[in-house]
Amino acid sequence: MSIVYLNGDYMPMEEARISPMDRGFLFGDGIYEVIPSYDGKLVGFGPHLERMQNGLDAIEIALTIDRDEWRDISSGLVERNGGGNLGIYFHVSRGADSRRNHAYPENITPTVYAFAFEIPPAPVPDKDAASCYTVSTTEDLRWKRCNIKSTALLGNVMHYQHGHSRGHSETILYNAEGELTEAAACNVFVIKDGVVATPDLDHQKLPGITRLMLLEILRRDGSIPVEERTVMLDELSSADEVWITSSSKEIAPVIEIDGKPVGDGKVGDVWLAAQRLYTDHKFDF
Ligand SMILES: Cc1ncc(COP(=O)(O)O)c(C=O)c1O
Repeated sequence: MSIVYLNGDYMPMEEARISPMDRGFLFGDGIYEVIPSYDGKLVGFGPHLERMQNGLDAIEIALTIDRDEWRDISSGLVERNGGGNLGIYFHVSRGADSRRNHAYPENITPTVYAFAFEIPPAPVPDKDAASCYTVSTTEDLRWKRCNIKSTALLGNVMHYQHGHSRGHSETILYNAEGELTEAAACNVFVIKDGVVATPDLDHQKLPGITRLMLLEILRRDGSIPVEERTVMLDELSSADEVWITSSSKEIAPVIEIDGKPVGDGKVGDVWLAAQRLYTDHKFDF
């Protein structure tokens, strides 16, 4: 049975209750995070918390829970849910109001919800064991604040479904100028002639923590050149490798895009080197 955290208490998920007037439910008015935990060791806890705080500040939710308390909630969930490979989900909504009104209410208490869910074992740097992805592409039709990790995810849900309904497991997005933004729930990397490129950050993309850690690990190591720049959609068709990154997938090789193979259609050598470095250094953050 899954034990969850809601507003200061732990309880079976079935017993967790929130008001139907909660603005998270009515408006998607909230911020969330997902942090991987392997045997209780969190990946990127500091950067994840920093991004959550940036999101809360951006939408003006004041919360008194500090970093230590979030860490305690993570440990509380890990202990109560059997440890192993878990995703720790944090969700803060603006709270429950007495009426439905767009304006931020004053004197409202945020709703804080957290749960743990099973995730696959951490990817290993082994080409034969790699989970390979096939994806579709479509124009990014979301809003202009995609840098905020908002619980209002309908745009991402619909884009994800574009790939899913075609038998794929992600959808890579591009804007009206033909520039790659990200994927429905991942960031995107394009590799050509040994150089790793990823779209530079702006309001069109979530600043992914895996992206951040991977760039830093690669730069510190220095053996694989990296670029943050505008990456065009048509670079996908000439790329040697394409990766999508997220906390649970880490660095996932994409081997087919819109039915066409990426490079030779196999997991690449640059992926192997990058995943090896990521595996060695992901707990440094
Ligand atoms: C839209 C979007 N972009 C990128 C990411 C990857 O972010 P992270 O590496 O922090 O998991 C996610 C993860 O949920 C996402 O939803």
